[in-house]
Amino acid sequence: MHKIVVIGTGYVGLVSGVCFSEVGHNVVCIDHDKQKISSLQKGKIPIYEPGLDEMVHKNVAHKRLSFSTNLADHINDADEIIIAVGTPTSDDNGSTDLNFVYSVVDEIINHLSKEIIVIIKSTVPPGTCADVQKKFDSSELHHKCHIVSNPEFLREGNAIKDFMSPDRVIVGCDDANEDKIRSLYADHINRGIKFIYTNLITAELIKYSANTFLAAKVAFINEISSISERIDADIVSLKSGIGSDSRIGYKFLEPGPGFGGSCFPKDIKSLIHFSEEIHSNNALIKSIIDSNQNRIDEIARNVEEFVGSGGTLCFLGLTYKANTDDVRTSPAIGVIQKILSLNKYSIRCYDPLGMKSAQKILGDKVTYCKDIYDAALDASIVVVITEWDEFKKIDAEKLKATMKISNIYDVRNIINIDKFQKSGFQVKVIGSKNV
Ligand code: UGA
Repeated sequence: MHKIVVIGTGYVGLVSGVCFSEVGHNVVCIDHDKQKISSLQKGKIPIYEPGLDEMVHKNVAHKRLSFSTNLADHINDADEIIIAVGTPTSDDNGSTDLNFVYSVVDEIINHLSKEIIVIIKSTVPPGTCADVQKKFDSSELHHKCHIVSNPEFLREGNAIKDFMSPDRVIVGCDDANEDKIRSLYADHINRGIKFIYTNLITAELIKYSANTFLAAKVAFINEISSISERIDADIVSLKSGIGSDSRIGYKFLEPGPGFGGSCFPKDIKSLIHFSEEIHSNNALIKSIIDSNQNRIDEIARNVEEFVGSGGTLCFLGLTYKANTDDVRTSPAIGVIQKILSLNKYSIRCYDPLGMKSAQKILGDKVTYCKDIYDAALDASIVVVITEWDEFKKIDAEKLKATMKISNIYDVRNIINIDKFQKSGFQVKVIGSKNV
C-alpha cells in the first residue's frame, strides 16, 4: 500500500486518485478550491462520470480516500505526489499556461522534508518535466525529488475503465525509479496491462501525439464524409471499407460536427506552438485545427440551406459528446453561435446534462427546454448534434406533432431514417446524399 497525495481534483486528478484508492492505496486528494473540497468531503462529486460516485463513497468508507485543501498536512506522509492540475491554453498564441504546475512545485518546495517521487499527470509540453526536475534540484530542498512523467489517456464518460484497464501505461523516468512505479501500479501489472518505460520528454510527447493523431482521424473522416455527401457515396460502407484494414482500424472514424472538449483543441494548439518554437515542420498538425473549424462552419451552413430563411431551429445536444456534462469547445455550441450570428433564427435547445454549463456561454440567446419535444415546438428543423442515447429513441410521430415543418438533420447518424421518413420527415444525414 502506497500513500499518495494527488494535487488537483479535475477529471484526471479525481479519477486517478479515486482509482488508486480502489486498488488499495491510501490517497489524499488536494485542491485549493475550498468549495470543491468541502463538497467532496460531503460526498458530492463535482463532475459527471459514470461509476465515480459509488467508488468515492466506497473508498471514503474504507478510509482509503480523503480530501483536503492543505498540502502541508499530508505531503510528508506521502510516498508519491501526483500533480494533476490544469494546463490551459494561454490566451495569446496557443502556448501552454504552466502557472498551476509551477505554483504546485513551489508549494512542494516550501513544505517537503523528505525524499519523494513527484509524478506529473498534467499534460505538459515536452521539456517541462526536465525543467521541474531542475527547479527541485536547484532549490533549498535537502532531499531529492524524483520526477516521473505519467500522462493519462482517460476519456470523459469512460474515465474509470480507461484508468483501470488502459491499452497501455506510459512512464517517463530514469531506471532508478522504475521499481517504485511498478509497485504503485502493481494491480495493473498483475492484470497484464502493458507498460512502456521511456524518458521524460518522450512520455510528454506521447501524450500530445496520441491526442493529435486521434483528432486528425476525426477531422479526416469528417472531410471524407463531406466528400461522400456531394457524390453518391455512403459513409457507413466507407468506414467499414477503410476500418477493416487493420493498419487503419475502426475506432475514431465516426463522422460528426467536429471534435471538441477540453483536450484535443488545447493539446493540438500547444503542439503547434511547441513545434514552431523548435522550427519543426507542422503543416499537417496545423491543418487539423482549420479542418475542424471548417467542419463546424459547414454544418451551420448546411442547417441554413436545409431550413431556408427564418424560423425556429431546434438543437438536440449541447455537450461536445454524449455521457458528459462538459460543453468546453463543444462543436454544438460552435454551430449554434455561428447560426446566431446570422440574426435570422430563434433557437430552442435541449441536452440531458449540458444545459447549465451551456447557459454560461450562450446566456439568454437561446431557449433552454425541458425535453426533446418541448425543444421542437414550432421548429422548422430538428438538428441532432450530440449522440445521446435518448436521441436515438425519438418518437417521430410525437416530434412531428409539435413541429412546424418536419425536417430533421442528423449530424451524428444515430436516428432511424426509415421511421422518420415514414412519418413524413425530410431527413438529412451526414456522409451520404440527402435521403
Ligand atoms: C480525449 C482522448 O480520447 C483521451 O485519451 C485523453 O486522455 C483526453 O482527451 C485528455 O487528453 O484528457 P475526451 O476529450 O474525453 O478524450 O473525448 P474523446 O472521446 O476522445 O472525444 C473527443 C472529441 O472527438 C469529441 O468531440 C467526440 O465527439 C469526437 N469524436 C470522437 C468524433 O467526432 N468521432 C469519433 O469517432 C471519435
